[in-house]
Parts: sequence; C-alpha cells; structure tokens
Amino acid sequence: MHPISLKKIVIASGNAGKLNEIERLLAGTGIEVVPQSFFNIPEADEPHCTFIENALAKARHASLHSGLPALADDSGICVDALQGAPGVYSARYACENASDEKSDEKNNQKLLAALQHHNNRNAHYYCVMVLVKSATDPQPIIAEGIWRGEILTAPRGSGGFGYDPLFLDTITEQTGAELPMDIKNHLSHRGKALQHLLQKIKVTLS
Ligand code: IMP
Repeated sequence: MHPISLKKIVIASGNAGKLNEIERLLAGTGIEVVPQSFFNIPEADEPHCTFIENALAKARHASLHSGLPALADDSGICVDALQGAPGVYSARYACENASDEKSDEKNNQKLLAALQHHNNRNAHYYCVMVLVKSATDPQPIIAEGIWRGEILTAPRGSGGFGYDPLFLDTITEQTGAELPMDIKNHLSHRGKALQHLLQKIKVTLS
C-alpha cells in the first residue's frame, strides 16, 4: 500500500445538506475538507443504475479536477411499497426532463402521492461512501450505511434536507428533519457509512 496524505480531501458534492453533515462528521479527525465548489468543479454525471458506480464516478471526477484525494457519497431513499424507488434517482425523483431543476419539495410531494394508497410505509435510506486517493486509484476505499424507518403521511420538522421531513426514525419517533444534526449523524446511513470508512482508512493506510 502506498503511503498517502489524507490531510486535505475534496468532497465530491454540491449538496449543502450532505456537505454540512460530512464536515461535522469529519471534524476532529485532522482531515481538512474542501467542497468541490471551491475548485469550481461542476457536478459529475450520474449515469449509472447503482449507487456504487455513481459514487465512484463522482469521486474520480472531483479528484481529477482538484488533484486531491476525493470523498464521494451516493445516497437515496428506497421505499418497500415502491419496489425500492426512488432509490438511485432520489435527487431527481420529481424531474420529468433532464433540464428540470431538482426540488426537495416536489420530490416529497411525489413520494406522498405515490404512497397514498399504501399501508406499508417501510423505507430505508442507503449511502455508499467512496474515497479515492487519485482519479485513477485502483483501490478505492468503500463503505456503506443503511438507516431504516417509515414514510409519514405529512411532513414534520424543519431541519435536515431532502426527504427528511417525511422520514420517521422509528426508534426515536422523530423525523430526520426533527433530529439535531449530531443525533441524525449518529443514526443515519451517511453517518454509519463514514464511520465504517474511517475505520477502513485506519486499517488500509496505516
Ligand atoms: P445524490 O446526490 O445522487 O447522492 O442524491 C441523494 C439524494 O437522496 C438527495 O438529493 C436526497 O433527495 C436523498 N437523500 C440522501 N440522503 C438523504 C438524507 O440524509 N436526508 C434526506 N434525503 C436524503
């Protein structure tokens, strides 16, 4: 294994909600994180039908354009009654055309409508995190996380982002939008994936 400095990494995302959570999760690790917007890196295409392929594409893209190691998260919400939809298409669920702007509010309305006649409201968030040390890194470090819960019939809370106002954590009985960020980070798919990734980094790069 080649020694590699992880003092500074680029985060391959333009999603403010994700960036805030990842920055908080990495606070205290000694790793300086720079959002890809700092380098004016445009959002990468996400043409694939799996989270892992999209995460790899995003990480490679950000590393190529910044010259830094890159961390990417690809995530989404998977609803049992909808056979796992919106899944990998979560960010653009309500978009009808490629040119349509992403909208959390429209996504949530579409999800409520899709579930209108369903009693089974079980769902989970899924996240895969990928760290590449360079754009051509043949050994990316990969970790996953899952957060199980239910979809409410009306939104609750004003924090978080995306589907959080509709996603009920059944253990705390709070939505992702009601939980303080540190508690969400402890329970969430992203928090779990990043904790696993940090463990792997320690083992792989030491
Ligand atoms: P990505 O940028 O393609 O990974 O899109 C992820 C999308 O999944 C987000 O835009 C949200 O719609 C949804 N999502 C992922 N994680 C979360 C979360 O923690 N809370 C709310 N929505 C999330």
